[in-house]
Amino acid sequence: MKDQIYLYPVWVRLWHLFNALLFLALIITGLCLQYANINYTLIPFNYSVSIHNISGIVLSVAFVFFLFANHFTPNGNYYRFPKHGVFAGLIKQFRHYSYGIFKGEECPFPVSVERKFNPLQKISYVIIMYILMPIIIATGLGLFFPDFLPPTIFGASGIHFIDLIHIITGFALSIFMLVHIYFCTIGKTPLSNFKSMITGWH
Ligand code: HEM
Repeated sequence: MKDQIYLYPVWVRLWHLFNALLFLALIITGLCLQYANINYTLIPFNYSVSIHNISGIVLSVAFVFFLFANHFTPNGNYYRFPKHGVFAGLIKQFRHYSYGIFKGEECPFPVSVERKFNPLQKISYVIIMYILMPIIIATGLGLFFPDFLPPTIFGASGIHFIDLIHIITGFALSIFMLVHIYFCTIGKTPLSNFKSMITGWH
């Protein structure tokens, strides 16, 4: 373990595992609800509703846990931006992913105890965890308790408007998950990042 660093504490790994499994359940049942068809059902509609609701509630609880744990442990430091050089860092990392990596160049932001994420990883995790997750959870809660929704929003039906935001955010998060898994394969070896998320050691 001499040249290895411990980056993923147990709580991160457990939260991430539950989050990923619940996410898969939500994507599959969400697609079943979105494209419901009486002639063809992958999962019966009422089962999809129940699984989607229960997974959504458990995912929301796990998300609140993530917020608290990230706030009260050093892991939250990895989600903070420096005062200067954010844009330059994003450009540098973008250049590496789109050009340098194919030339065999070293990553401009190697992983260390002080820096778990490169700038692009950091900004995408912050957007996902602190913007898109709250939007999908809040709109999901709105759809779960529709009586609390205003009858109209911007002149449209309140429930339809919230539903639209929920679905658009769901598709955006699904695309993130595919891109996220792809980028996780760009480690020292294609499987090394996945092993790190299991053992905790990078
Ligand atoms: C089957 C699905 C998934 C797989 C295989 C997967 C895989 C991984 C791996 C290997 C890492 C460690 C490498 C790194 O730090 O970039 C990681 C980190 C992370 N993933 Fe995923 N992931 C999945 C789904 C998700 C989803 C759905 C989300 C959020 C909505 C997510 C959010 C994160 C976050 C925030 C981290 C950094 C955690 C930390 O160290 O603080 N992942 N993921």
